[in-house]
Amino acid sequence: MSRLRSAVQNGNKVVLESDENTKRSQKKKTAIAPAVKEEPASLSLAQNSPYHFFQALDDISSFRRQLLAWYDRSKRELPWRTAAVTESDVNIRTYAVWVSEIMLQQTQVATVIDYYNKWIKRWPTLEDLASATLEEVNEMWAGLGYYSRGKRLHEGAQKVVREMDGQMPKTAEGLLKLLPGVGRYTAGAVASIALGQATGAVDGNVIRVFSRVRAIGADSTSPAVTEALWTLANTLVDPDRPGDFNQALMEMGARVCTPKGPVCSQCPVQMHCRAYRKVAVRQEEGTKRLLGKSALKPSSAPDIEECVPAGGCALCLPSSHPWDGSLGVMNFPRKPVKKPPRLQRTLTCVLHRGGPRTQREYFLVQRPSKGLLAGMWEFPSMLLEEDSSEMEQRGALQAQVEKVLATPLSEKTVLHYIGEVVHVFSHIHQTYVVYGCTVPGRADSSLAGEDEGALAARWLTNSAFQEAAVSTAMKKVFKLYEKTESTESRSAKDGKRKRSPDGKSDKPHKSQKVKSGKEQSSGTKQLSLSKFFRPPIKREVEDGLHS
Ligand code: ADE
Repeated sequence: MSRLRSAVQNGNKVVLESDENTKRSQKKKTAIAPAVKEEPASLSLAQNSPYHFFQALDDISSFRRQLLAWYDRSKRELPWRTAAVTESDVNIRTYAVWVSEIMLQQTQVATVIDYYNKWIKRWPTLEDLASATLEEVNEMWAGLGYYSRGKRLHEGAQKVVREMDGQMPKTAEGLLKLLPGVGRYTAGAVASIALGQATGAVDGNVIRVFSRVRAIGADSTSPAVTEALWTLANTLVDPDRPGDFNQALMEMGARVCTPKGPVCSQCPVQMHCRAYRKVAVRQEEGTKRLLGKSALKPSSAPDIEECVPAGGCALCLPSSHPWDGSLGVMNFPRKPVKKPPRLQRTLTCVLHRGGPRTQREYFLVQRPSKGLLAGMWEFPSMLLEEDSSEMEQRGALQAQVEKVLATPLSEKTVLHYIGEVVHVFSHIHQTYVVYGCTVPGRADSSLAGEDEGALAARWLTNSAFQEAAVSTAMKKVFKLYEKTESTESRSAKDGKRKRSPDGKSDKPHKSQKVKSGKEQSSGTKQLSLSKFFRPPIKREVEDGLHS
């Protein structure tokens, strides 16, 4: 801990500029520029406004004290928090916090704990991670989503070990500049938690807390608001306990100042909250109106009730989105208008060989090393680009299967329709149209498709599939397949096999959800494929998933 303290004392406040998701090349260009190069007039007015900022030192001290006291009472014991205070090796400590912060991006604490523990057990040091393969990293990351995060951690560890003599950067500035996948937030979080640097860290939870505390109602992604939030974070961070302070803000945002249904009665910094105050004042005014009294300024009102800058304010609720009485403190922050996710349909074929279910093997293909789900394994799939009949889709999917199998399917082999699975990626609403197919052959765990230029492909047993670098979306596809299979084998035993024997129906099912076994069973159709054989569909079609 003493090491942490000295880092705090030496810690200068680093003001960082790059966005968390900014590409590395861009990051280098913008990294260390001051937070605000040229202040827009409205921002500088707002920065002077005590309404959106903290100016009195007493208020700042009181905010820190109240927040940290709450954290000391209420914090959860989390494995990376323990590492941050007990690990004396600065490189191991920084690495551990870095892993946790990357995992925590876009993912809930409860989900991360198990992944973090397994990761640290397997790769306790940077050197251990650097010597792992990307395949092992992807296997470990499977199910956590946003797979490029694991890849970047791996690249970063290799860089530190191979190019930086195993020494992690010792400041937020260094972390931001030197590590792939580390943006402004992660740099601030790791530097404050692991290195004791007095620097802010603004994540989604902190955006919400500060937007409410200082009634910042302009678009939270606008440059003026972003800089205001970082200014607040860097001003308020406690110089003696920066890591705890930042984690307390995040934790408060996750557990008290929640997006919906915030529990203001439990808020340790309620007295500093402008949003809370606005709600109270309006309620008081409403009550007075009801009682027929004039809306006098309440006696307990503080000096500053509103932001009234001359010439408009870049941080206030915009006139296009005035205060909504039904929302209370949830008027803040104002959500940016989100682009709707792209709708995509992908045909995918669960292909197996070998006899009884327990002895089967499934055929998987590796995705390209760049883009969405880079390097992950999937059932042979292809993006549906235009409206086509089910027959055409089946024909195209068969051609794709034959291409990746590097062998034509026999005349008797059929692709049968199973159902649909929906998986929402951050920006893509993906519907998988699932087919199943049995091919002759023994299960022998061989590799497949090793011809020159062929995609990596392999046969996996059920248990190997569960351990492999396979996305949650593909696991859902497999679940649907298994469910259908068991329903069908039950129906077959009962003499009630539901598949259409002639496969004449040509209408794809339109369901957007994983259907129940019963629905899937009744929707399953079978068709001989040889007549629909087409030239192979180019693999690039699948790359359409990448964006
Ligand atoms: N979210 C991101 N980092 C976190 C942390 N260190 N503790 C709790 N929630 C977090």
